Formats: sequence, C-alpha cells, structure tokens
Amino acid sequence: MNREKTRITYICESCGNDTLKWEGRCPHCNEWNTLVEVRRNATKSGRPRSWLNNPTSKPQELSQIQNVAESRINLGIEEANRVLGGGLVKGSLVLLGGDPGIGKSTLLLQLSDKLSQLGNQVLYVSGEESVEQIKIRADRLGINGANISVVAETDLESIIDHMENMSTALVIIDSIQSVSVNTVDAGPGTISQVRECTLSLLRWSKEKQVAVFLTGHVTKEGNIAGPKSLEHMVDVVLYIEGENLGSYRVLRGEKNRFGSTNEIAVFEMMDTGLSEVLNPSEVALSSRGENLTGSIVVPIIEGTRPLLVEIQALVTRSYLPSPRRVANGIDMGRLLMVIAVLSKRYSFNFSDQDIIVNVAGGFKAVEPAADVPMAIALMSSLNNIPISNGTAAIGEIGLGGELRSVSNLQRRINELDNMGFDKLIAPHMKNETIDKSANITIHQCLNIGHVVDVLST
Ligand code: TYD
Ligand code: MG
Repeated sequence: MNREKTRITYICESCGNDTLKWEGRCPHCNEWNTLVEVRRNATKSGRPRSWLNNPTSKPQELSQIQNVAESRINLGIEEANRVLGGGLVKGSLVLLGGDPGIGKSTLLLQLSDKLSQLGNQVLYVSGEESVEQIKIRADRLGINGANISVVAETDLESIIDHMENMSTALVIIDSIQSVSVNTVDAGPGTISQVRECTLSLLRWSKEKQVAVFLTGHVTKEGNIAGPKSLEHMVDVVLYIEGENLGSYRVLRGEKNRFGSTNEIAVFEMMDTGLSEVLNPSEVALSSRGENLTGSIVVPIIEGTRPLLVEIQALVTRSYLPSPRRVANGIDMGRLLMVIAVLSKRYSFNFSDQDIIVNVAGGFKAVEPAADVPMAIALMSSLNNIPISNGTAAIGEIGLGGELRSVSNLQRRINELDNMGFDKLIAPHMKNETIDKSANITIHQCLNIGHVVDVLST
C-alpha cells in the first residue's frame, strides 16, 4: 500500500471543521472527543469531471447578476414555501433533518408531486428504499408520479450521471447518509463520506442552478454523521420535529441564506400523508387544562406569523443543596434573570424551590417577550394561585422589574382575539396605538408590581 498517497485529516463530528493533527478537544467548537480521523486516498480518484477540476466560474459584475428573488420555485405547498422564505431558490442546497420515521421521505415525495404537477421534472434518488417501496408510498399518498423519476442508488458518481442526463427542477437525495463516493476510504454515513458527497452535490447544484434537497437522519450515536455536521456547508437547513406533538409535525428553518430562519410550518401526519395545519395556535393549545396554576398563554411571533403557546411552571419545595432549574423550550438565561428580578425586587422566595418551566407541546418561546408570562407562571405556581384560561401575557422584563415594549403587538393581539382570549397583560407602549375594536381587554403595565395588581383583581 502506498502510504505517502494517503492524506489524513481530523474532522470534528460536532461542528464539521477539520484540523491537521488530532487533539482531545476540537479547536473550533471546544467539544471534547469529537475529532475523527479521515483518510483520503489521493491515487484512487474517480473519473475526472470537468466541473470538479476546472472551475467554470467567472467573476461577474454585481449589477449584472440576475435577481435571485425572481428565480424562486413555487413548491405548491404554501407552508413549505413560507419556511423557505417564499419558495425554493434555484441552485440551492437544502438539508432536511429529522429523526428516523418522522416524515422526511413523505414530505419530499409530496413536494415532488406538487412540483411535478406544476410542470417540473423531479429526480428522486433513494438510497434507503427500493423503487417498489417508493411506489407503495406514492400510492398511499395518491401520487400518480408523472414527471417524477425515481432511482434506488447509493453511488454518488452514478447519481451525478443521472442528474446530468436529466433536465430537472429539483433533485432529492434521500438520504445523504446512504450515499458514498469511492475516492473516500470510509463507509457510507461516516463524516468524511457525508461531507465529500455534500460538497460534490453543492458544486453541482450551484453550477447547474438546480435545487437539491438532502435528507439527514438525526443520530444519537457518533458513528453516523448527523445533519449538524453539514449545517455550515448547505444553503438552507430545515428540521422536521414531532417529539411530544402526537401526529403533528413542525417544519422549522434553522438556517437560510435566502430568508428568515424563524418561520415554522405545522403539518399533521394523516393516513394520506402530511397535511398543512393552517391554524397552529389551535394545536398548541389543544390539550390545555382548565384554570391551572403556573400556566399562561403567550402570543409569540414565529417569523412572520403569531402563534399562541402555553408556558407552564412548576415550583416545588427542593431537598437538594442547590435547587434545580430546568428550562424546556425557553431560554435558561432569561429564566434565571426573571427569577433573580422576582426575588430581589419583589421578595418572592425561590431559593429553596425546584423550578421547571416548560413550553407545552414541544413548541418554543425563546424571545424576550416571553419574560412576563414566565414571571406570571412562576408566581402563580409558587403561591398556588390559578390563572383563568382567557388570560395571556407578553413583555420583556428589565433588571429593575420594568416591562419593556415588544414588537408586533397588534398582530399578537389579533391572534389572541381570534382565539377568544379576554385579557392580555402587556407592557405600556408609548408609540404604538392599539386597535380598540378587539374584544380583549389590554392591561398595560409599567412593572411587575402592576402585573401582580392586575392578576389579583
Ligand atoms: P417517513 O416519511 O418514511 O419518515 P422518514 O423518511 O423521516 O424516516 O415516514 C414514516 C412514518 O410516517 C411511518 O411511521 C408511517 C407514517 N406515515 C403516515 O402516517 N401516513 C402516510 O401517509 C405515510 C406515507 C407515512
Ligand atoms: Mg425516509
């Protein structure tokens, strides 16, 4: 074996950066024990490809470049268009991550169907299922399949051959962990294979201006590279989540070079595939109890859309030397800040209490506007005072206990009004006039003291 010809690098499984020497801790992301050896055999190269070896790129004047906003492809599923920032940009590489069995293949087959109905050619490459299995799923989804070509293939060179031979609007690789290229001396799914294949697909999609979707399983074990290690290479990262959500699935933008990353879309998994949920607030509040202690609704803004979620706090006597603070779906730093403000300024005593704060249903409320509802949930649970179901709250809390203004108040109010809420605790907004036609009473408070007054009336 010719040792000189093998190049060794070490790639971090957590952040994907590479270094030339092994270290116990990744110099880029500081994670421990994440560097893995990657050998690339310099002699065993694949067939030469002109677009790989001789870049055909050429500098262009910025003013002469076509406007990307115009070259978006309508996916035919409104919710998916919104998460992508108004459709799919041609030549973009999109990674769709999620747990196995969550519905990635289903969503992409449905997208293929919608796109093909709009007259586009789609190539669906599956490295995990046979074409017969894909056919069974298509039948179940009621997809006829004209304009969709499917192939079961795991060799990247063959896949790129197929891609070159077709004129497609979209190529789907399901999954990136199942494909491999023979220039890399490692099995499919390893970090070196996954990176190399993603790089080739990235170059191809940029050069041909064809959008490529990759799916990636979220993995718990270190042997298979998870989607996290690819996030920095692709243009758009979407995750599909469904833990704790029953049959509901949330599609979330995690990174987007062409739009906002805060957008979410909610789908329900039915017998006939994923169907769009047009009123996600109903889902988030669907299993709410009656007038509980420690529970209040907050109208958050996800991207461009308001969403009502329930914040729950459980404050219980602790027998631990340092009581526990657990934050699920909210920001731990903000939770600690709110606890500190309530203790220091308003003499609430949490020092011997375990605190768990949760956003119900697996949703997230990470904006500072969730401070006030968090504070209300904490006070309510500590003192066992129930909050009526028609009450919601919004607002950021300053270190002095003052309520600070929030953006998009009117949109939040409208969503609460539509969902039948009757009371909103909000900051005092100097420069914003609020439409008084809503049926909801808005209590504008200057500080937490006022909030306590309003709650006790
Ligand atoms: P799948 O898309 O294969 O998940 P992934 O590609 O992320 O691994 O989805 C598999 C699950 O979805 C499976 O448990 C069955 C369920 N499902 C439905 O409930 N309805 C459907 O119409 C389809 C196609 C799948
Ligand atoms: Mg799948």
